[in-house]
Amino acid sequence: MNVEFKTNMGHQASIRELIKSDAKQVLEYLKIVGGETNYLLIDERGIELNINEEEDIIDRYFKHPISLLIGCFIGDEIVAIANFTVSDKLRIRHIAKVGVSVKKKFWRQKIGYKMMEILIDYAKKNHQLNIIQLAVRADNFSAISLYETHGFKYVGTMPKAMKLEGKFYDHNLMFLDV
Ligand SMILES: CC(C)(COP(=O)(O)OP(=O)(O)OC[C@H]1O[C@@H](n2cnc3c(N)ncnc32)[C@H](O)[C@@H]1OP(=O)(O)O)[C@@H](O)C(=O)NCCC(=O)NCCS
Repeated sequence: MNVEFKTNMGHQASIRELIKSDAKQVLEYLKIVGGETNYLLIDERGIELNINEEEDIIDRYFKHPISLLIGCFIGDEIVAIANFTVSDKLRIRHIAKVGVSVKKKFWRQKIGYKMMEILIDYAKKNHQLNIIQLAVRADNFSAISLYETHGFKYVGTMPKAMKLEGKFYDHNLMFLDV
């Protein structure tokens, strides 16, 4: 997969599957986005893996028949990452779970929109998949709006899904039939 597009700020961007050699930059990216927002499950420490461990994760996605880990690049810089994860377990292999983040300086340029569009199109074409699920912090209105734009429906709330500095945050659970 290699999708080229222009962001609405006129940047030439490309979206492709991440590969092992991206590992160092992925770890740096996760520290940056983790420090830029508290809506994610990670903070400025990122995921605290070493390069070999990150390479293994990327490689597992790359070799998986359906799951995907995609990055959006402007020049050589990773500006967004989305993961699309499908279990191999027989009774839940029709479900994909999705997560997306964009570096703050590239917000509102339709990059998150494009990443979701690609993953949804991919899911629609894959006969094994019937549903995409996600969990989003209930006060993350930008992300909720992004998901609603793509047709995701709210199905319920998971209380106290995140605990941050002693305060609890609920998660909205959303789904899309594909
Ligand atoms: C949520 C996030 C992925 C959106 O990415 P983005 O590239 O900035 O979003 P886009 O420019 O593609 O916007 C697409 C739609 O999302 C919604 N949206 C995005 N940013 C928004 C904002 N600040 N306020 C309101 N709606 C917003 C809108 O519906 C927008 O459509 P519109 O431009 O026609 O109004 C990005 O803000 C982000 O990475 N946030 C931090 C990480 C995060 O919260 N990830 C989701 C975890 S579940």
